Order: sequence, then structure tokens, then C-alpha cells
Amino acid sequence: MGSKLSVKKAVFPVAGLGTRFLPATKAIPKEMLPVVDKPLIQYAVEEALSAGIEEIIFVTGRKKEALEDHFDRSCELEHTLMARNKDTLLRELDSLVPESGTIIYTRQGEPLGLGHAIWCSRHAVGDEPFAILLADDLVKTDQPVLGKMLAKFEEVQSSIVAVEEIDPVQTDKYGILDVENTGTDLLRIKGMVEKPSPDQAPSNLAIIGRYILTPEIYTQLSRKERGAGGEIQITDAMARLLQEQPIYGYRFKGRRFDCGSKAGFQMANLAYALDRPEIKKDLLPFIAEYLQQSKPGS
Ligand code: G1P
Repeated sequence: MGSKLSVKKAVFPVAGLGTRFLPATKAIPKEMLPVVDKPLIQYAVEEALSAGIEEIIFVTGRKKEALEDHFDRSCELEHTLMARNKDTLLRELDSLVPESGTIIYTRQGEPLGLGHAIWCSRHAVGDEPFAILLADDLVKTDQPVLGKMLAKFEEVQSSIVAVEEIDPVQTDKYGILDVENTGTDLLRIKGMVEKPSPDQAPSNLAIIGRYILTPEIYTQLSRKERGAGGEIQITDAMARLLQEQPIYGYRFKGRRFDCGSKAGFQMANLAYALDRPEIKKDLLPFIAEYLQQSKPGS
């Protein structure tokens, strides 16, 4: 057994067209949609950096330039803020720009699925374990999920995916696990299937968009087998990897918002806005009043 491996790279698949949020996403990437005043992608990048990730790999596509600009300096904006003595904002903007060379951008030429997007990161990642974060899954918690998973990885030195119990009628929206219950927050996975119908699902434990994978996943992905929806699925590649090495499921603590759905995205906005005293003081009375007014018969 060699020395312990640690995870330094994180892949962010951000090539999706965001069709569910059209027309909002016609000219801006869906990952740039704000939850309160911060784009979704920034929550995910901050989670990765706070967990000790040192290299960020964006798998982008056409019309995603706004993502690159977001994580770059904006000299014009900085000059204006400086002239107006907006020091707090200046510091905030400054802290969101990672050191030059930290972010690598690679393109997924065709929308062939999440597994294909991850495969596009193979040269940037190389032969080491790496993390994947799906910005659509936003988890509100004081214990950022990726940080907890990296600590588990130190122990088990095997692939780990985040899992959550979902409503059993929703299994066809997720990768679903068959697990051995270990009685802890780390579950040994026996099998997994992408988007099964409720009657075919092995459980109601769903994969949520945080993964730590060993580099052997790329061998599986290079087979480019099509799965659910005719797409190359990361879940299928993991199911095959499972024949060779263990994969664990990590039950995280925290409230997850599915920001890929309109209702989930609005819930996230509400929850994060209510966390901010300056917004909450106006928002809460408004909600109460609005609900009162929209009661049937009033
Ligand atoms: C993807 C994965 C799925 C996972 C989900 C988590 O699906 O394919 O296994 O459960 O993310 O959000 P998508 O949401 O891209 O359809």
C-alpha cells in the first residue's frame, strides 16, 4: 500500500444549455443565475476552495464566457468602486478571483451527457483522485459537504458520492443506489442505476451532485456507452467501476436545494434571503401579508 492520496482537483461540468430556465438562460449561463446576489457557480467554487481544493476545472461550452469573466478581474469595475470608496465591495470582488492559473477551462464540444462532460476533464485531472461538483445542487449547511467528503476520503481512499433520501416517486430524476446499511453516515454501495422508474428503483437513496472519484473512472467513461436518455452517464461508469473497487455513499447533513428546477431555485432564494437580516426584515412581513391576501375568499 502506497502513501495516502489526497484530492486537489475539482471538476465543474458547466456546459449545460439550461433549457429549463429559458428565456432567462438564452444569453447567460444557467450557472450564473443568482441565489440572492451570488451566482450558483460561486457557491460551488467557494465550497471546493474551502475544502482545500487547489485546482478548478470547468468543462464549459459555447456561450459560457460569462463564467470566465466572473472569476477574473474587472479593472473598470474596480476603478469605479475605488473612486467611490466602496471598500467592502472591492474586497468581496477581490476575494472571488482565484490566483491566476488556478482555473482551467476545457470545452465539451457536444452535449452527450454528464459522463461525457466528466470524460472531457481527463487530461486536466490526470492520474489522481478528483472531486466533481454540480452547481445545481446547492446544500445549505454549516458543514460544507465536499469538505466532509474529503475527510472521509482520507480514511477510505475510495470513491464517495453524496446521497440523500428522496421522495420515492422522484427516482426517475436521479442516480439511485442499492446499498449495504452500515449504520453510519458512510454506506457501502452494491449497485446503482440512473433515473429508474419508481417500480424499478432499488431504494430511494439518490446521488446528489458531489462526487469524489478515483481516476479509473476515466477508463470506464472512455467506453462511451449510452445509457438513460441516450446520454453517456457518470452513474453507469460508476456502476462498472464498482465491479473493480469499492464506492461509498455519504449521507450529508444539511438542506439541499435542487436549483435545476424552478421551484427548488425559488426555495433556495427564499432560504438564503431569510438568512440575511437586512433582507429578512422586509421579506418576512411581505410573505405573511401576501399569503394572507392570497388566501381563498380574502
Ligand atoms: C445528474 C446525475 C444523477 C444525479 C443528479 C444529482 O442528473 O446524472 O445521477 O442524481 O445529477 O443532481 P441530472 O440532474 O443532470 O439529470
